[in-house]
This record gives sequence, C-alpha cells and structure tokens, in this order.
Amino acid sequence: MSFLSDRARNTAPSPTLGITARANAMKAQGIDVVGFAAGEPDFDTPDHIKAAAIEALQKGQTKYTPSSGTPALKDAICRKLQRENGLAYEPKQIIVSVGAKHSIYNLFQAVINPGDEVIIPVPYWVSYPEQVKLAGGVPVFVDAPEEDGFRVTAAAIEAAVSPRTRLLVVNSPSNPSGAVIADEELEKIAALAVRHNLLVLSDEIYEHLTYGRDHRTIASFGPEIQRLTLVVNGFSKAYSMTGWRLGWLAGDPEIVAAMGRIQDQSTSNPTSFAQAGAVAALDGPQDCVEMMRREFEKRRNVIVQRLCAIPGVSCEHPEGAFYVLPNVSRLLGGAVADSDVLAEVLLNEAHIAVVPGSGFGVPTNIRLSYATSMANIEKGLERLATAASKLTGK
Ligand SMILES: Cc1ncc(COP(=O)(O)O)c(C=O)c1O
Repeated sequence: MSFLSDRARNTAPSPTLGITARANAMKAQGIDVVGFAAGEPDFDTPDHIKAAAIEALQKGQTKYTPSSGTPALKDAICRKLQRENGLAYEPKQIIVSVGAKHSIYNLFQAVINPGDEVIIPVPYWVSYPEQVKLAGGVPVFVDAPEEDGFRVTAAAIEAAVSPRTRLLVVNSPSNPSGAVIADEELEKIAALAVRHNLLVLSDEIYEHLTYGRDHRTIASFGPEIQRLTLVVNGFSKAYSMTGWRLGWLAGDPEIVAAMGRIQDQSTSNPTSFAQAGAVAALDGPQDCVEMMRREFEKRRNVIVQRLCAIPGVSCEHPEGAFYVLPNVSRLLGGAVADSDVLAEVLLNEAHIAVVPGSGFGVPTNIRLSYATSMANIEKGLERLATAASKLTGK
C-alpha cells in the first residue's frame, strides 16, 4: 500500500527539470551532450549584483526578514513598476517569494476554491496546470494556434469563460513558444477580463527579452484591469539569477496579504542577502540586461533559420523569451510515435537534450532553449539535422 496522498499522486513531474537532470548525468559520465532543455540563461549573474549580496552577508544581514520581503526590495519593485511599466503600486501590494514559481503557487492557493476554473492558453508553462490542480482548481485549456504564431486571442478566451471561471493566465512573452501577444489583442483580453470580473495572472518573467518590439503589461490598460491583474515577475531570466530563487507578485492588497499568510506558514522569507542583491539588480545599471537580450536575439535568428532548413521541421519566428517550439510532426511515425519518444531518441542517440512538447500541451512539437552558446547551437542543430534526415530517410 502506498502512503502517498491523492495530491502527490496526481502531480506530474516537471519534464523540463527531468530532461535537464538526465542530460547532466550523461555529461557527468563524459558524454558530450548539447543541452537545449534548461530554461535558464547561460550568463553569470552580473558582478554588481553579487557584490551587493556579499556586502549584505558581511554586514550581518543573515537573519529572518519580514516574511513577504524586505521593505527595501518592495520599494525597489515599486520603483521598477513605475519606471518601466508606468504603474503605481504601494509596498503593501508587493510580495517577494522564493522564485516567481513560488509567487504563482501562493497566488493559486490564495484565490482558488475547489472546482474553480482557471483558463490557461496552450502551449503553456508546465507548472500552471499542476499548480492549479494542487489548489483544487480545474485547468481549462484554450488553444493558441501554431498558425497564429502561438498567440492566444481574446475571442478564444471568451469562448472558454464559464460561471466558474476565476482566473485567466496570460504569459507574454511565453514559455514555451516565445510568442508575444500584440498590444491590441492584449487590450481586448483586458476588456473581457473586466467584463467578466476575472482575475488575471500576468506572468511577465520574460518581459526584458523581446526582439524588435517592446513589452507591454496587460495591467497598463486602465485602473480596472490593473485592479484585477496580478503581475508576476522575478530575477531569474532578466538578471540571470535562477539559483538565487527570488520572484515577486504585485496586485490587489487583500490577495497579497492572503498570500503573505500562506508564505508565513510555509516558507517564511526568501533568503535575506539574496534580497539585497535583488535591490542592486533593480536599482543598478541595466546595460547587463540589454547585453544579454542582444545576444539572445542573435541566437534566436540563427536557431530559427537552422531549424527551418531541416526537412520535416517547421518553426515560428518568436518575438520573445529564449525558446523555440518547432513542429516535428513530420518526423513522427512508426517506432517514434510522439515527441516524448523523439526526445528520448535525440538524447540517447544524437546527444541533444530537448523537451518534448507533451508537457506544454503540444505533443507534435519540441522545445529548444537557446540560452546556450552560439557554438552549442551550431553543433546541436547539426546533430538534429542528421537525426532528422535518418528519421525521414532523406
Ligand atoms: C513562464 C515562467 N514563469 C515563471 C517561471 C519561474 O521562474 P523563477 O525562477 O523565478 O521561479 C519560469 C521559469 O522557467 C517561467 O518560464
């Protein structure tokens, strides 16, 4: 007899973390694996951010902080929201957590009752449906079609709204597709959320990684939508701080206070000196962010071009994040029935780590992160081209 709860039994493992762990284990055995699986920048955290955390440690900032974050970091987040997004928030509307993932988890715990529906565009970041289910909610999936560049429309969302809908997830730029929703569509989504009185989780963790266009937050389309929107962001992607485990949410003070109570009783504060580093990230020079963005843009151009040149593979030209989600349906068939098997074959035989699309709701696609060096991109894509030609027999 198993001692596991239904909750534990029903939670799927993260395919992204799983593949990355296996690729790392193969690398440790001396196998030359090219990794496209991990969703983390390959740059180091900028020095001035590290220096601020080291200084905090040396000054003895080694104790508990307020559970929902230090006043200094909340103030810095308010300044950031005003400066970069033109939005006014007060510190009581901010919570800092152990990564954006943790903020999202606490949000779902704070606002979802059993049976409440949460609209999630497909393809989606792997954790949204699992976290919704952990809170007793029901994920309702809405297609963001590949032929529309994986951009969800307000009309598709509206068709999925029911009396049980509580919250809508917007993730632009998107993981896993890199899609950025056009401002006009975002405005329509804002209007429908206001019309139906839906909360909006706006996951903006890739805000700074857009190519050829600027980011706009859905919360900026007026005070009514700002009131309903929970803006989530963090430090992992923009400042290359994945291991620091810091993220935040800004929104309705009652919801933020409820999330704070959940955080009080579960994790308490995010790491004290990491928060000091995060203040330096937000208040310090931003040219490091732009340097990384430019490098990602170059890599995106190369990876998309290379993927499109492989017979049997087609690929959208995403405007953000550091992912591509090529369609590999023409490589599937026979023993390689789906993208799960394809990812296995690619890892074991071609020594490239990619994430199968099934975890994102798109089993005919695979996700490649181009948060890796140009040399790795060239080498890995050559291997993929060879593997694809074996599969198609061309
Ligand atoms: C869309 C999206 N949201 C949230 C997160 C979580 O980021 P963090 O490292 O801040 O927990 C990720 C990380 O991969 C992500 O891709």
